[in-house]
Amino acid sequence: MTADELKAEILEKTAEYCELQKKTEGFRPGETRVHYAGRVYDAAEMQALVSSALDFWLTLGPKGEEFIRDFSGCMGMKHGLAVNSGSSANLVAVGALCSRSLEDPLRPGDEVITSALAFPTTLNPVLQNGLVPVFLDVEEGTYNLDASLLESALSEKTRAIVLAHTLGNPAQMDVVTDFADRYGLYVVEDACDALDSVYNSRLCGTFGDVSTFSFYAAHHITMGEGGAVLTNDIGLYRQALSLRDWGRACYCRTGEPDPNGACGKRFAHRYKNLPFGYDHKYVFSNIGYNLKPLDLQCAVGIEQLKKLPRFTAARKRNFQRIYEALLPFGDVLVLPRSLPGAEPSWFAFPITVRDKAPFGRRDFVAFLEQRQIETRMLFGGNILRQPAYEEIRCRVCGPLLHTESVLKNTFFVGVYPGLTEEMLDYMIQTMRGFLESAGGRKQP
Ligand SMILES: Cc1ncc(COP(=O)(O)O)c(C=O)c1O
Repeated sequence: MTADELKAEILEKTAEYCELQKKTEGFRPGETRVHYAGRVYDAAEMQALVSSALDFWLTLGPKGEEFIRDFSGCMGMKHGLAVNSGSSANLVAVGALCSRSLEDPLRPGDEVITSALAFPTTLNPVLQNGLVPVFLDVEEGTYNLDASLLESALSEKTRAIVLAHTLGNPAQMDVVTDFADRYGLYVVEDACDALDSVYNSRLCGTFGDVSTFSFYAAHHITMGEGGAVLTNDIGLYRQALSLRDWGRACYCRTGEPDPNGACGKRFAHRYKNLPFGYDHKYVFSNIGYNLKPLDLQCAVGIEQLKKLPRFTAARKRNFQRIYEALLPFGDVLVLPRSLPGAEPSWFAFPITVRDKAPFGRRDFVAFLEQRQIETRMLFGGNILRQPAYEEIRCRVCGPLLHTESVLKNTFFVGVYPGLTEEMLDYMIQTMRGFLESAGGRKQP
């Protein structure tokens, strides 16, 4: 038997194994956990993973190249970079804007407008690069940065906007990009939760100077852990690549066949304080990291990407079902809303318990969790109240009324494609049961 034949047999067995492994005992309401998110996969992902393992490339290589080509292509962006998480993507994106190799980089002390309702690693690279966040409130129901407040946050030091499309709900990007253009600001678009969400017929992640994605297991597609950075700016791409790869100056692709590099001058550059011809691969132009994913992860990503249209349709369908079921309880709950022109591929279903409701978020969450329905808080709530951020250097612009309300009253449940009809029925029935018995009066 040849190695290829043996590999084919292993992959066939892998598919058989996957089938058996995925056979579940069936859904038992109140006993089977209804997760808010999870991996959705079949034999194709498992075979891709095993095949890559047998190739034993291990480090980022051909599968990484293929994934990022497919991903950038499907997003319609010129340059893409695979990284090992969405957090790393944000670190690389903001870091690239601070690179001394840019003509006009962000510098320590420069101000960055962002929202106080945040996942920590949307904000962290701002702080880690010595930039000063200027916090704005979010809107009720969209949970996105309130773009009507942008002007009030402006100062002479303002240089950038870093914002996320909260839970996949598109932010008001036309207003944001108009504002950024008017004042010459960079825009970093954290689309980690918003893969395949659309605003004004454009995909989220295509508006900013640079955008980021997460492929953690809870996200729209997964590699287990993983992420990506996209940009149409070759200069930013090269700095992002450098930061991902130890800070080196060389931007050759993996497996570049020419020993003199793609530029043909690997041993023929002159750098200020280095001997002439010092190997470009070992010239470090940024203070970088190593944030590369493995080829194994990218092999899974390639298969997941093929399923994206199906995943998006399921997310939208599941969201709509929960929305319709909760619509009669608008007097006690703030239901999620999206802006005109927005077509969200929701990451999850956010619910805010109104102050006047005869029950609190804790009651609702405890009721659901006890009945095996998984819930999550909306990230850090007001991030400024989190222990790590108590002493950060920042500016807060205006009262953070809705952000505070999220901290006190908001949680989310899942809409991910792994939810079956039975699970959704159970979830809806349980939520309605609580709302009816806890005094959540039905509107006529
Ligand atoms: C908006 C946002 N940005 C960044 C991240 C970080 O992604 P990762 O978990 O892949 O580091 C998350 C995580 O879920 C997120 O929700």
